[in-house]
Formats: sequence, C-alpha cells, structure tokens
Amino acid sequence: MGGADLVIASNRGPLSFGLDGSGAPVAVDSAGGLAGALHPLLENSGATWVASAMSDADRAAADAGLMSRPGLALVVVRPEPDTYRMAYDVVSNSTLWFCHHHLFDLARRPRSGHRWSEAWDAYRDVNRSFAAAVAEVADDGATVLVQDYHLCLVPQMLARDRPDLKTVHFTHTPFADPNMFRVLPSETGREILEAMASAAACGFHSARWEAGYLGCCADMGVEPGPTFVSPLAPDPAHLGARAASAACRAARSRIADLVGDRRLVVRVDRLEPSKNLLRGFWAFDELLETHPEWRGEVVMLALGYTSRDTLAEYLAYGTEVEHVVARVNARWATDDWCPVVLDVADDPDRSFAALTLYDVLLVNPVRDGLNLVAKEGPLVNENEGVLALSREAGAYDELGEAALGINPFDVADTAAVLARALAMPAPERTRRAAALRGLVERRRAEDWLADLVAAAGS
Ligand code: F6P
Repeated sequence: MGGADLVIASNRGPLSFGLDGSGAPVAVDSAGGLAGALHPLLENSGATWVASAMSDADRAAADAGLMSRPGLALVVVRPEPDTYRMAYDVVSNSTLWFCHHHLFDLARRPRSGHRWSEAWDAYRDVNRSFAAAVAEVADDGATVLVQDYHLCLVPQMLARDRPDLKTVHFTHTPFADPNMFRVLPSETGREILEAMASAAACGFHSARWEAGYLGCCADMGVEPGPTFVSPLAPDPAHLGARAASAACRAARSRIADLVGDRRLVVRVDRLEPSKNLLRGFWAFDELLETHPEWRGEVVMLALGYTSRDTLAEYLAYGTEVEHVVARVNARWATDDWCPVVLDVADDPDRSFAALTLYDVLLVNPVRDGLNLVAKEGPLVNENEGVLALSREAGAYDELGEAALGINPFDVADTAAVLARALAMPAPERTRRAAALRGLVERRRAEDWLADLVAAAGS
C-alpha cells in the first residue's frame, strides 16, 4: 500500500497561501484553531496530512511544489473549484456549521431546495476525493484520523474501500441537539450519522457534544459506533516560542502604547456569528453605562480574522459588528480615549501579544466546540488576567471552576462579569490565574493525539 501508517485528513491543512502582487503564491498563517493546533503537533511526526487546496493560491502553491513541511508528508486534494465551493460554502459552512452551533434563523433557513441537493452531491464528491486520497497513501492497517464536519462521509467510504484501515472521526464543533439536527433533510441527517457510525470511534471535545451525537442517533434510529471525549490542548512550547519572537514583542509595545495605564479587555476570535461579538460589545457598552467609574479607564481590544467571506451571513454579520463598535465609540469616546478598538486585519502576532497583556479575556461564544483561545490566554498571559468564559464553550468543562462563567445570551450578566473581573482584588486574580494555568496544563496536545490513536485501535 501507500506507506503511511498515520494519516490525518482535514479540510484545511497546515499551509494556506495568498497571491502576491505578481500573482505568485506566498504562505500565510493557516486560519482556524484546528489547523493551527495540529500543525506544531504533527510537524516532524512522520505522519501524512491530507487536506484541500482551498483557493487558487493554494492550487498554485501545490503546482509550484510549495506544499511541504519538514517531517510531514502533505497530500493535497484538489476538487473542481465549483464543486469545492458548493461543498464548503453551502453544505459545510452555511448548513452544517449553522446546524451544530444552533445558529439558524429558522423562519428563513435552512432552505433545502434542489440547489441544496446539488450542493450535497458536491459534498459527497469532495468526501469521495478525500477517501480516495487517503486510500491511496495509507499503508495496510494504517490509522486514519478524519477531522470535522467537512468530512463526515469519509469513514463509511473508507470502510467500504479499505476495510483494513482503522478510522476515527473527530468533531471540533459542538454536535447539534436532536431537535436542531431534524431541520436537515431527513435522508441527509441519516446519511451523516450512518457514515460517522462506520468509524472505529467518533470523538468530541465535550461530553455535551457526544450526548448530542448519541441523541441524534437515537432520534433517527441509527446504531452509533463507539464514542469518546478528548479535549484538545495548546502546545506550551510552541506558544512560548511565539511569545518570545521579535514580531510579538514589537506588537506588545504597540498595544502598550495604545492602552497606556488603562485596563485592558481582550477578545480574539474569528469574525463570525457563533463567537457572539455583538453581545460582547453591547455588554461593554452596558458596563460603561452602569459603572461610570470605568469610563476613560478601560479599553476593549477586539482582534480577529475573517474567514468564509464569500458567505452573505458572514458579510452581514461583519457589517453589523462594525456598526455596533462605531455606536459604542460614538457614545463614549473622548478626545484621548477610544473605548473599543476593533482590528480584523488578521495579525497573529498582534493577537498573541494581546493575550500576554490582558487584564480580562472575554470568550463569550453562543456555542463552541472547545475554544482554544480560552486555553492559550491563561498559558501566555503575564498579567494575572481573568478569564470571562461562556458556559456554552466546550472549554468551560475544564476551566469553569477558575474562570468567571458567562451566560452568553445575557448582556446584563456579561456586563456584570466584566465589572467583577475588572474590580477583582489582586489576591483573587493571582489565585484564579494560577488555577487556570494548572487546569490547562493538565492536558497536552499529545494526549489528544494519543486518545485518537488509541480509539482507532480499540
Ligand atoms: O476553530 C476550529 C474550527 O472551528 C474547526 O472546527 C474547523 O475545522 C475549522 O475551525 C474550520 O474553519 P475554516 O472554515 O476557517 O477552515
């Protein structure tokens, strides 16, 4: 067979490319928690990583032989661009992402018409391309770790074509509750669940999402396979090296100049609806209204990056976010104080520098598979910062006892938590920050990988 005994399959791979002024591909940091977290873990591991060429730049980079990393074999799947767009935009992002995060505006969406059925066929095609690429490279009896909602059908395809392989499917998002899963076309829902059940095991970041999957199976009469829970963890050595880099140090001093001696609330997210940026800004507005002592004394630095910017929902959400920030600033700003600084220029060094400096880290998603930022912040923060964490993030299972919990739908509660965090006495900050670090350090990224490999063999 192909010679690889550990194969990872994910839509987004470790390398993403853009095009420079002359149209030549240049590497950019790969967006998203999953690719960012797995990259340091797998580099030099000897594994094979199968991923999509997601853009023209990625395709040009693959043509130019630029898709390579030390000690990691990269295999690039290259679906037809139109097929890929339908699978990624229409099925994965507009449907499955919205379903698992309970984001549908149900009076309008989903609208599973015949165009959607075509997109579902495209999704099947992309999954088939991945299964074929894995089948070609995988050694006899190899372990295959399939990641996320983009590739739900791959375990069943591999079970048919390569029954010798040991395939695990891992979901990095939440998994929908049965009532929400029912909004998918019934046969599609069943196809997803049956295909996942063909894996040797299905993994989730939280017991809540595992229960969602099992509840959907029970609801649709699908017999699930084995399941397990294994939260991912950041790599402290990788984070430490990044914090020490010259680019990060330069970004730190720029942020320090911006903030001066004011307190700093930070958020770092992908600009998208599940991250709940709007309620975060409304809560900051409410904080300034109800706690006048903080006017002029605190800055909220919201850093992020855009992705999936071909989707109408995302573009509309981005515009709304900008509007709300402008309104909060118009209401409270003074000549020498801008309350909210929003920057979605996707500058990972700046985001990382902000994590080292925050007094309060606000992580308030409406629903989130895990949220790695909630774990990275406490590891690198040098300010005994407080974590204000949504109870709907998978990471709350592990960190809830040392964080301040937030009901992410409740703006008044979020404002009250921000006020409490900002006014927290130093001894309590120190105690909570140390406890958070201890909780994060309980698990290493390697533990997550080992859990998946073990689940494949069980
Ligand atoms: O942040 C991790 C994640 O939510 C994964 O679940 C998923 O694979 C990834 O983001 C998708 O992001 P993108 O569409 O930007 O690749």
